[in-house]
Amino acid sequence: MEKVTVITGATHGLGLAMAREFSQSGSVVVITSRKKRLAQKTCMLLSDKCQGLELDITDQSSVRKFLQSIRKTYGRVDVLINNAGFPFRRKIWFKKLHEVSDKELIDIIQVDLVGSFRLSKEIIPLMLRHASGGVIINIASTPSISGHIYGSPYSLAKSGVICLTKHIALEYASQKIRAYSLVLGNIATEATYDSLSGKERVKATEENAMKRWGKPEEVAKIAACVASDSFSYATGNNIVIDGGTILN
Ligand SMILES: NC(=O)c1ccc[n+]([C@@H]2O[C@H](COP(=O)([O-])OP(=O)(O)OC[C@H]3O[C@@H](n4cnc5c(N)ncnc54)[C@H](OP(=O)(O)O)[C@@H]3O)[C@@H](O)[C@H]2O)c1
Repeated sequence: MEKVTVITGATHGLGLAMAREFSQSGSVVVITSRKKRLAQKTCMLLSDKCQGLELDITDQSSVRKFLQSIRKTYGRVDVLINNAGFPFRRKIWFKKLHEVSDKELIDIIQVDLVGSFRLSKEIIPLMLRHASGGVIINIASTPSISGHIYGSPYSLAKSGVICLTKHIALEYASQKIRAYSLVLGNIATEATYDSLSGKERVKATEENAMKRWGKPEEVAKIAACVASDSFSYATGNNIVIDGGTILN
């Protein structure tokens, strides 16, 4: 039986790199976007075993519709990657904590944390149906461990994501569901690299021991590795991918 991998927010950036990696390893890959046609179009570039579905993880009815489609078409999910994240907005990122509005905080938490919780909660019962269990990968970021001088709403949401991983790991380990947080430093995607000035990019390069940005493909290879049986006796871990910065 072919494995089914669901990757949220995968029409570009990290999600797309992971979709490519999992497609190349032969998995059936379901990618999601809030724009159905974009998801479908992206799939055509990946493999004939890829399906693009519409999903807004902040909308319960959209999640319900998505799950109905997954149940009907596949009846299983082997790997879930909660990649979808609130878009990087300079206007919010560079605010000091006392300047952040309740709405800005809640909007980010709704996508990164509540959305990941909501989807995990719906997909875990599908994983429990099969003796082989499953793997859930949540995408966090280094400030969720170390804190940062900016971006407090993102850090708060991603800290919750790390806790979500630990709960899944401990509550379902005996039923063969494993969970991991990929804790990312600066990865050059359109959402981050392209939205910074030349000076800001160089500053970000200086933050880590390797003195460079990570590539989405480097994260994708690690995601494929932790989802594989090579990681069968590890769960709940923070896998820090940051070129050697916080050394967690
Ligand atoms: N790049 C980095 O340096 C870095 C560092 C640390 C952590 N991360 C995390 O890594 C993940 C991917 O980042 P990226 O750089 O590739 O950013 P990105 O291109 O902005 O990807 C995020 C994706 O989330 C989806 N999304 C946003 N709101 C959504 C919602 N309500 N429902 C469903 N999907 C939604 C978007 O898809 P649609 O617009 O197509 O719906 C988008 O493709 C994010 O969780 C981010 O926080 C990235």
